[in-house]
Amino acid sequence: MIVKILGAGAGGGLPQWNCGCPNCRDAREGKLPSMTQSSVAVSADEEDWVVLNASPDIRAQLAATPALYPPGLRGSPIKAVVLTNGDVDHIAGLLTLRERTPFNVLATADIHGILHENSVFGVLAKDVVTNHTIVLDETFEIAGLSILPFAVPGKVALYKEGEIVDTNAMGDQTIGLRIDANGRRLYYIPGCAALPDWLVEKLADADALLFDGTVWEDDDMARSGTGDKTGTRMGHLPMSGPTGSLERLKGLGGTKMFIHINNTNPVLQPDGPERAAIMAAGWTQAQDGMELSP
Ligand code: MLT
Ligand code: MN
Ligand code: ZN
Repeated sequence: MIVKILGAGAGGGLPQWNCGCPNCRDAREGKLPSMTQSSVAVSADEEDWVVLNASPDIRAQLAATPALYPPGLRGSPIKAVVLTNGDVDHIAGLLTLRERTPFNVLATADIHGILHENSVFGVLAKDVVTNHTIVLDETFEIAGLSILPFAVPGKVALYKEGEIVDTNAMGDQTIGLRIDANGRRLYYIPGCAALPDWLVEKLADADALLFDGTVWEDDDMARSGTGDKTGTRMGHLPMSGPTGSLERLKGLGGTKMFIHINNTNPVLQPDGPERAAIMAAGWTQAQDGMELSP
């Protein structure tokens, strides 16, 4: 199994268009590698590919990834796109994949509902792009990959929030994926609000884990002076602290990589204590263009 990090960033990417925080400034000055928004591509055979989440940056991501170039005059090695939630950073790229090349969109009923109620997604011609509704805890096979979708704690997409928001809900709106191929196992969880015991136990058999690295501390945004929204309110647990991912997943072996990293996260600074802490705990920070074989 081969995994390509198409975009390591969270919604907004690095630099984010309207942000002048130290990380965004450093990225503009070339002192930090920029990150496009959240997406990875997975293949069992390096021929057919499945894209996990379609980022608004997918056009540039595909242009930067020769393995995903058209094999002939028209067409694509991308056989399917699997969506893990309805975030703009995960669905807007579907609009770029128009132009009548067949592929399959796999998502839960909730997320297909969002695509259906926003008629602009009708640009993906129904006679070419097929929709498949995935069901929690039911394995499906696609392009030689065996994928199990399961609910993880999370919330509805920002633009679907009502007056009261359950930021720790379990259901169709935020899922993780367990992906098996050639005897290897990858978990992909770019958005997760908490790591309860059952989830920590579930991940124990991972050969590789790509996990939500949105924030270092719950109040990264306040600390960077960019806003007062917390990780908790965004449906993302922090890396640090007693209930954070570093502590909760410290017993986990295999490859551990943070993805969906927000531009305000201090872990982006290569010489900072936060980066040293994740490395000491056996984690790496994803960057665009990285490749791993779980
Ligand atoms: C998130 O992951 O919290 C979202 O991408 C936020 C957003 O839609 O901007
Ligand atoms: Mn997001
Ligand atoms: Zn910023």
